[in-house]
Amino acid sequence: MNRIVFLTVFCCAALLLSCDKEREIILNQYGKPAEDAELSAGTATIFSVGKSSYDTPAKWVTGDLLTRFYSGDRLYDNPRTSAADDPRQGGKGPLYAGSSCGSCHNNAGRTYPTLFSNGGSGNSGFSSILIYITKKNGGFFRNYGRVLHDQSIFGVEAEGKLKVSYTYETFALPDGEQYELATPRYEIEEWYADRIAPEDLIIDVRIPLRHVGMGQIMALDPDELQTLERQSNYPEYGISGKLNRIQDRYVDMPGVGGNKANHSDLTVELGFSSDLGVTNDRYPLEVAEGQSQMAGYSHYGIQISTHDMEDVDLYLSTLGVPARRNVNDPVVQRGEENFYRAKCHLCHTSTLHTRPTAPVLINGTRLPWLSSQTIHPYSDFLLHDMGTGLDSEYKAGLAMGSEWRSTPLWGIGLQQTVNGHTRFLHDGRARNFLEAIMWHGGEGAVSRSLFAGMSKEDRDALVMFLRSL
Ligand code: HEC
Ligand code: HEC
Repeated sequence: MNRIVFLTVFCCAALLLSCDKEREIILNQYGKPAEDAELSAGTATIFSVGKSSYDTPAKWVTGDLLTRFYSGDRLYDNPRTSAADDPRQGGKGPLYAGSSCGSCHNNAGRTYPTLFSNGGSGNSGFSSILIYITKKNGGFFRNYGRVLHDQSIFGVEAEGKLKVSYTYETFALPDGEQYELATPRYEIEEWYADRIAPEDLIIDVRIPLRHVGMGQIMALDPDELQTLERQSNYPEYGISGKLNRIQDRYVDMPGVGGNKANHSDLTVELGFSSDLGVTNDRYPLEVAEGQSQMAGYSHYGIQISTHDMEDVDLYLSTLGVPARRNVNDPVVQRGEENFYRAKCHLCHTSTLHTRPTAPVLINGTRLPWLSSQTIHPYSDFLLHDMGTGLDSEYKAGLAMGSEWRSTPLWGIGLQQTVNGHTRFLHDGRARNFLEAIMWHGGEGAVSRSLFAGMSKEDRDALVMFLRSL
């Protein structure tokens, strides 16, 4: 890697002209938006700044659509109870991870998890994390599923509790500025059944993702994503992206959702089933069906209708995307230049397009407003090997343990305003933007070095640019 960094820096210094040219080519293809820098998602861009910046309908959401948006919003936010026979608000558990979608995605964002306030799982029905577990060989454990449910209703035992401890290490940037990285170590305690030996256990912890631009992400043009995958090959920077592919309802599709890009829809049915324990037409069995302690909890039937789930789907799909702020501030503009100089855009691609055909929701509703839009997600939705530091060993589809989807950065500058914290990366280990960047290894290592080698002023400007997103 060092040689690559050296060569890159050398080339750029010696051949400024050709670097400019390269930049121009990249900017023209997928690069910096010219006139519409503020318009993050075309006609779905919204301009309010505050706690509900992620949670505001696009302005074309009116009439019947708006009524359904609010119905979906309520179904999303209202805590479910364990009452088995209340179709609007019951059905929670017996095992679950959160009481409502909104408990983890507060204001359609990223709730501050108990990982940092409680050293792991929360004790009172709330954690705001998902804990994925597998065997070292990728298989699932018989008494547990893919997700370790760390919460349960009265009378049932949670599958286990997560504990985390952090090791702190201080590093110095080339100009002497110091920063600290916190490396997590995860363990499971209080297994409800067989204890699984740590040697045979892979634990992959995720904090919730922001819901910014979910409708647009689901409407991405698969042809453009495939073109992007073919183009994402920059040996000089050690970068090559890979599209995750998944079989969903027997159709082969590019994966775009989730940190491993292993979802091709909004996972509403999966969320109700696995995260909340609410059975539905697609997942009619309780998520822990088959566990001995589940006897007596099956056969409750369907606990949320497909019509209601479509309202949630509609709510998520029609959320507006916050406009960028301070685009004419010279520091922000300098930061934007630095974003390209550090090659961040080779993964956090600034401009993409939605496909010409209208997306269709789970119950058949069409949303033509989302088609043919120019959007600025700051992601290529491809998987990149981020090095051993971020390797959880957990695989999902084509994604290996160290491979993650470039997180879309649109709206990231408002996370502090919406959710009151700046925890970043899949498991929230980064406490601010600088740490998030310094965790970039593997394909992100050249970018990290280019950023680290900038003057403090330039690094700060880059962070100001991120805050304008
Ligand atoms: C216990 C916490 C928790 C609950 C409850 C929860 N989620 Fe999530 N959600 C997460 C986490 C963690 C992720 C990231 C998962 C990943 O990396 O794939 C996520 C990811 C998502 C994504 C993908 C986002 C993206 O950018 O690709 C969607 C959509 C989503 N959740 C919707 C829902 C819905 C709908 C519900 C309620 C039915 C729900 N979630 C309930 C924690 C939760
Ligand atoms: C090789 C591709 C690649 C490059 C280059 C890259 N990133 Fe990333 N970035 C990623 C991936 C993949 C993740 C998700 C990693 C994870 O969650 O573990 C990520 C995560 C982030 C996050 C955290 C997002 C969140 O909401 O948690 C920030 C901030 C970020 N990148 C900024 C940058 C900046 C700034 C640069 C340039 C200095 C950069 N990235 C260069 C791929 C890349």
